[in-house]
Amino acid sequence: MAETPPTIAELRDAAITRLRAAHDLPSTREWYREFLGDQGSVSALFREIGALPGDRRRAFGIAVNALKAELASALAERQSHLETCALDARIQAEQIDVTLPGRPVNRGFLHPTTRIIREICEIFGKMGFQTVEGPEVEYAKYNFDMLNIPADHPARDVWDTFHVVSEEDNIVLRTHTSPMQVRTMLQQQPPVRVVVPGRCYRFEATDATHLAMFYQVEGLAVGEGITLADLKGTLTEFARQMFGAERKTRFRCDFFPFVEPGVDFAIDCPQCGGKGCRLCKQTGWIELLGAGMVHPHVLEMVGYDTTKYTGFAFGMGPERLMLLKYGLDDIRDFYKNDTRWLRQMDQAWL
Ligand code: PHE
Repeated sequence: MAETPPTIAELRDAAITRLRAAHDLPSTREWYREFLGDQGSVSALFREIGALPGDRRRAFGIAVNALKAELASALAERQSHLETCALDARIQAEQIDVTLPGRPVNRGFLHPTTRIIREICEIFGKMGFQTVEGPEVEYAKYNFDMLNIPADHPARDVWDTFHVVSEEDNIVLRTHTSPMQVRTMLQQQPPVRVVVPGRCYRFEATDATHLAMFYQVEGLAVGEGITLADLKGTLTEFARQMFGAERKTRFRCDFFPFVEPGVDFAIDCPQCGGKGCRLCKQTGWIELLGAGMVHPHVLEMVGYDTTKYTGFAFGMGPERLMLLKYGLDDIRDFYKNDTRWLRQMDQAWL
């Protein structure tokens, strides 16, 4: 026996029940196919109309049309309800609590060497010195010869040097920033006032006070009438800005082949005020840097008129300056990449 087709009322109730059970938009589309689509149950009822006897056709047709209209509006209502629910859920899920405290951003900071170099250059900058930089891979000619350090000079032994490629190629890793004195003077006429920060290299065993890679800041001033008094005034001003206005200074004779006279510049120990302590090794003095009046032979070699121009130069080690300023005892700490130590230095900055 053929299955009895559901009555319109039964079909309506089944459709409404199924529609209530549709909890998302895809299931409502599925529902549409099942009931209102071309192959759906309601369309099947339409196809039945033609087979009915004439007297029932009209009433049946009206009922089927009413059913279709009712289901279509129920579907629209259900879909709009589900859309609202989905939107509410999304708003809930994507909600931002603007009153929550922000997550702290992990800010970077400058390496202490970079910082001290910037401070040094800034102090000299205010005195009219321009900051310039030069190559770390340097001609032996600039690193030694034109600085009055000829090939057989014993001073070349002091700077135990890294040679690039081979010794005959005469290209080295610069052992100091002084070659930039030569390069600067070859490029410009007096007046010259430059400071030169940069890396230097020496073939050296590493210990608490020595590194094979370290920094220097070079200084050079050449012009008419520059004397040792200018050198003393400039360096004293620098030391007082760096280590305190009350610093006493001491200049003693020293030797560097490219200056004459050469001096060793010291300040009274900032830690003990000159009484003697561990930092100054009980001497009361701290040696800061080497300096001197540019040797006339160096001026001659770059083609400067030595009857007209004189100048002074100095060279300092920024890491050493920091050891002194902060009472640290091991220069190797700077380049261990221990960010805890580096951050502490950053926070303790004076
Ligand atoms: N270049 C010297 C050194 O490395 C320092 C220096 C620079 C001395 C300039 C005098 C003048 O020790």
